[in-house]
Amino acid sequence: MAFAAHKRKKIAVIGAGFVGSTTAHWAAQKELGDVFLVDINEGTAIGKSMDLMQSSPIEKFDSRVKGTSNYADIAGADVVILTAGMPRKPGMSRDELVGINAKIVKDCCAGIKQHAPDSIVIVVCNPMDVMAVYAKQQLGFPRERVIGMGGSLDSARFRAFIAEELNVSIKDVTGVVLGNHGDAMMPVVRTAAVSSVPIMDLMPIDRINAIVARTKQAGAEIGGHLKTGSAYYAPSRGAIEMAEAILKDQKRIIPCAVELNGEFGVNDKLMVGVLCQLGGAGMEKIIDFKMNADEKAEFDKSVEAVRTLVSALKTVQ
Ligand code: LAC
Repeated sequence: MAFAAHKRKKIAVIGAGFVGSTTAHWAAQKELGDVFLVDINEGTAIGKSMDLMQSSPIEKFDSRVKGTSNYADIAGADVVILTAGMPRKPGMSRDELVGINAKIVKDCCAGIKQHAPDSIVIVVCNPMDVMAVYAKQQLGFPRERVIGMGGSLDSARFRAFIAEELNVSIKDVTGVVLGNHGDAMMPVVRTAAVSSVPIMDLMPIDRINAIVARTKQAGAEIGGHLKTGSAYYAPSRGAIEMAEAILKDQKRIIPCAVELNGEFGVNDKLMVGVLCQLGGAGMEKIIDFKMNADEKAEFDKSVEAVRTLVSALKTVQ
């Protein structure tokens, strides 16, 4: 008896460092599809993939994980998650990584463009917003298929701190962070809530301000403790939240960095975090989030931060 051919989803994770290998881990564990972990250091990609596969009998996932340095292996990938790049060192801003990581992103994009031209690409490497702009230029894909991961992570951190402060279940906390993935990011206080009750009714403003400040510095706080690297559990899970929404056509509304074509008054091909609907076609819709005057002023600062970095990119090329 022949079984009907079944095509599993295919996920390519570029970069087998901490973020990449943890991304592969979540993807396999959640059985989102078969995972190809790509790294120029083939031994790292193969070794980590073998190790992950050998956990499958215990965890009982049927996803296959394969390590490779050959981009031909990513042919047909539905989603590509681009994590390759140097992480931040303690005391380093995300911005200082522009020159180093642009070179890496360029090489990765050449491989993606050649072997997975129909894929949807999620950009994770830092400084994320500008690397996403650069990746989009290199790939030449439409804006629906090049999406930056920042808001998913930053919103998760914002919600974690709210739940911790109020000692409530994380399951009941909602809240988003828009703008850039950098110091000018914009946790949206007005709409953050616990079971629909605004956080402004649940805690004093100084506590809210402390949470906002901590959210903005959360990556640096972790890097300061780690000393030799930066965060990876929550960043990788943020990428997988987006990948899952795309692979399962969930139509979820998640803050992501996408190219704005006039939305929120931005026209110069910048990618900034806004609320997006993610589904099978990638970024399917930008949600026209009505900002008040203060929020718009804050958002504009975020946009300006991305604009400045994109100019820095031009000088390193
Ligand atoms: C973070 C860094 C790595 O937010 O961007 O964790």
